[in-house]
Amino acid sequence: FGDAALRGLKVVVSAGPTYEDIDPVRFIGNRSSGQMGFAIAEAAVQAGADVTLVAGPVSLPTPQGVTRRIDVRSAAQMRDAVVAASAQADIYIGAAAVGDYRPASVANQKIKKHDGAALVLHLAENPDILASLAAQTVRPFLVGFAAETHDVEQYARDKLQRKGLDMIAANQVGGGLGFEAADNALTLYWPEGVAELGRTSKTELAHQLVAKVAERYRAVRA
Ligand code: PMT
Repeated sequence: FGDAALRGLKVVVSAGPTYEDIDPVRFIGNRSSGQMGFAIAEAAVQAGADVTLVAGPVSLPTPQGVTRRIDVRSAAQMRDAVVAASAQADIYIGAAAVGDYRPASVANQKIKKHDGAALVLHLAENPDILASLAAQTVRPFLVGFAAETHDVEQYARDKLQRKGLDMIAANQVGGGLGFEAADNALTLYWPEGVAELGRTSKTELAHQLVAKVAERYRAVRA
C-alpha cells in the first residue's frame, strides 16, 4: 500500500457505537467495536489523506498517522463533531453504528425497581448524521454503511438513494458477522455501479474500500 490515492484530501471517518444514557449508570448501546472504522482511518492515512477520526466509546488505540481523534459518547455529540470536522472535508465515511433512538429524558438518579412492575422507556429519534451532511449545499463525498440482518441489497440501495449518498458499503450483520468480528465482507453500491469485496480481515477490506472510494471520488469530483 502506501499509494497516494487520497493525497491532499481531508477525510473524516466515524467509528464505533454511540451510548445513549438512561440514568447515571445505564445506557442503550450496540455491538460495534470500532474495528472497521479504525481500519478505514488507518487505510486512508496510508493512502495519503489527512484523517480526522470521530470515535464513539471504544477501547482501541489511535491508528498511526491519524491527524486528530475526537472521542464522543452519544449520537448528538457524534453529529456535532462530524458536522464541525466535515466543514473542511472532501470525504466523509460513516462506519459508526449511530444509535437511532435515545431515551426521551435522562433520569438524574438511578432508576429503582418497583415490585415486578414493567418499566416503560420512551425513546426519541436521534438526528441522522449522514442526512445532516447531505442537506448541505457544499458537502463532502458521502460514504455511508448499511448494517442489515436481512434484505441487505434492497435496504442498502434504499439508503443510498434516500440519504443522498455517493456510495454505500453494505454488510450483513448478526450471527457472528459484521459487529465485533475480525473479518467482514462488504458490497459497495454507488449510483452507477456495484463492487463485491469478499470476506477478509477488516484491515484488508478497509484498503479495498479506500481504493474504491478514491476512484469514485476522482470520477465525480476531479
Ligand atoms: O465496529 P465493528 O465491530 O468493526 O463493526 C463494523 C460495523 C458492522 C459497525 C460497520 O461495518 C457498519 O456497518 N457500520 C454502520 C452501522 C449502522 O449503524 O448502520 P445503519 O444501517 O443503522 O446506518 C446506516 C448509515 O447511516 C451508517 O453509515 C450510519 O453511520 C449512518 N447513520 C445512522 C443513524 C444516524 N442517526 N446517523 C447516521 O449517520
